[in-house]
Amino acid sequence: MQTPRYEYSRSKIQEKIDSLLAFKTPYGLTVRYAIKANPHSEIIDMMHKASIHFDASSSYEATQLLKQGIPGSHISLSSQQSPHNLEELLDAGVLFVATSLHQMDVFLACKNHPGTVGVRVNPDIGRGHNNRTSTAGVSASFGVWHEYIDNVIERAQSHNIKINRVHVHVGSGGDPHLWSGIIEKSLTMTEKFTDATSLDIGGGFKVQRFSDEQEADMEKIIHIFKDTLSSFYTRTGRKIHLEIEPGSYLVAHAGVLVAEVDDIVDTGKNGHTFLRLNTGMNDFLRSSLYGAQHRIEVLNENTETKEYVVVGHNCESGDILTPAPGDPEKIETRTLKQASIGDEVRIYDTGAYGASMRAKGYNSFPDAEEVLVD
Ligand SMILES: Cc1ncc(COP(=O)(O)O)c(C=O)c1O
Repeated sequence: MQTPRYEYSRSKIQEKIDSLLAFKTPYGLTVRYAIKANPHSEIIDMMHKASIHFDASSSYEATQLLKQGIPGSHISLSSQQSPHNLEELLDAGVLFVATSLHQMDVFLACKNHPGTVGVRVNPDIGRGHNNRTSTAGVSASFGVWHEYIDNVIERAQSHNIKINRVHVHVGSGGDPHLWSGIIEKSLTMTEKFTDATSLDIGGGFKVQRFSDEQEADMEKIIHIFKDTLSSFYTRTGRKIHLEIEPGSYLVAHAGVLVAEVDDIVDTGKNGHTFLRLNTGMNDFLRSSLYGAQHRIEVLNENTETKEYVVVGHNCESGDILTPAPGDPEKIETRTLKQASIGDEVRIYDTGAYGASMRAKGYNSFPDAEEVLVD
């Protein structure tokens, strides 16, 4: 088979779907797949068949979902950019979440807006394994800043619109124990939205891609959610439906990027030996962008190992697959099987933010193909 290619395992995706759908919260739980992680049409079909709903992060993602036959009422749209076709999306029943005061005005200006809307709030708890994956706190432009909740409520009320959904997404990765603070703060904010019946706590359930990372313990996290929602009910008399928007959690482990060693070069006795692959940032950007760590394996019969820096084929010194953890500015070596040109190389856990987030078309390299396997 041709390389480079992404292989996505149906059974691994199904396993994750089933595990999440088994959870319950006291007043209902909606699982939304964040399609930005991997918008492959077959994966979307799998989610839809399993009755998972969707989180779209642009009007284009929402439009793609509608074209694929997903009912509008199953799509929640919270977009950084104001939607270009909001009236059309509202007609289709898409649930709009305003992520700024301006977006609330854009919604209110729509002739066909429904009587309810969602609002994304920045709760001032940032999270993520680095600044580039944190989407809350003073350094993040995502959502209405929590101090402006009253403004957004006033705007909606002046048009007789009810804010029925509160949305929070604080970032991806990071410490799973922070979930307790996140849901508590989110519910405190939800208290101000007196018409809200639903809280969308976002995604960001940590996936272990490398040895020192800790996978989110969903059982523990859902337990925390249940307790906090029940206490909220006892305190306020309000039953809040919970929504979660996992992307990585559902698909990251299911993907592997299969490539080949295209060349091996070194920089002398004080330098490094570089394995250059026939793929790189045009197919897979996370490592260059975030310093993200992924397991890499050379497939051959060798028992001897060697220290390599693994790099991509793009004409770009930042095209590195083994950066220092969390620091894309620095390179690090990996102990891998001694390799030869032509050996197959597998980059694991690349099912999320791999093909969907690549530096597409850079150096005019063709895109790695994407195939689903059992
Ligand atoms: C609003 C929103 N929801 C959900 C997600 C999914 O995050 P993850 O893939 O870490 O679960 C993201 C990711 O950026 C997001 O921005």
